[in-house]
Amino acid sequence: MSIETLAEIALAMVAPGKGIIAIDESNATIKKRFDGVGVECTEENRRAYREMLLTTPNLNQHVSGAILFDETIRQSTKDGVPFTKIMMDNGIIPGIKVDKGTFPLAGFPGEVVTEGLDGLRDRLKEYYELGARFAKWRAVINISDDAPSQTAIDANCHALARYASLCQEQGLVPMVEPEVIMDGSHDLDECYDVTEAVLLSLFNALREQGVMIEGTILKASMVISGTTCEEQAEVEEVAAATLHCLRSTVPATLPGIVFLSGGQSDEKATAHLNAMNQMGEQPWPLTFSYGRAMQSAALKIWAQDLTGNLAAAQQTVFDRARANGLAALGEWTA
Ligand code: 13P
Repeated sequence: MSIETLAEIALAMVAPGKGIIAIDESNATIKKRFDGVGVECTEENRRAYREMLLTTPNLNQHVSGAILFDETIRQSTKDGVPFTKIMMDNGIIPGIKVDKGTFPLAGFPGEVVTEGLDGLRDRLKEYYELGARFAKWRAVINISDDAPSQTAIDANCHALARYASLCQEQGLVPMVEPEVIMDGSHDLDECYDVTEAVLLSLFNALREQGVMIEGTILKASMVISGTTCEEQAEVEEVAAATLHCLRSTVPATLPGIVFLSGGQSDEKATAHLNAMNQMGEQPWPLTFSYGRAMQSAALKIWAQDLTGNLAAAQQTVFDRARANGLAALGEWTA
């Protein structure tokens, strides 16, 4: 695939005031979310829930793309229209999660590595045919007293780079997601150091594998205090530390950076993005690729009555999309 085409898709993903909705939960993860609101995790309920999200009126005003799961990219609305068609007709770019989740890294207790490279070329070919134009692979980096090791960081970044190279070969923009997990008692500085080490390793691996940075999107975690750290950094501190870390490690040729929400409250996720975008011009657009922070309010409403509350649930999806779209411009007010 030509770099021009990949770069065009990447730029469309981070168009001004727009971001990505992540609805690519694996069946195990969506089951956890459904369990939390008392909904049975059947294929039909997963389909109906994703239909509610994807058919939110005017979603395309603030959303440029959606990341789907393997099951979801093959599903249709109750009227039989493929989700990918609904999306493309509305200018929402279909994306697909292609990793197979995390597994223990042998020899490094407590650390994980993401799997899914075997057979990936053929899976990407099929996803392209199904309409996907970007893909996502998530690596998980945990912080604890003796983690992460440089070995775990490098193993994960190597896999991310192998995945990214295959995506570009098959015409999909790779969204590379090395998530530094918020759980733990670590402080902001520790999160900074780990995030910096991860991003240095990642961009080194991408260069080694010949990945075209101009056709790649980074999905980053924010530099933030661990969830059980006694001293929780303020919004402005998180924004400043995250920007400093990104500016120190990420090439200016990257078309854009999107953030995961990672367990932050809906409002915090929006506030952090907004604060970063108020801190002046950066080398890249900064926007959202939120899962939970886009969906959690809507899921609660939808769960009360799986068919009766569609409009109310969709209104909250739209409200989150609008707030985050404004935050991507630095124009959100609480
Ligand atoms: P959260 O925003 O819920 O962290 O999900 C984003 C995502 O895609 C994680 O891989």
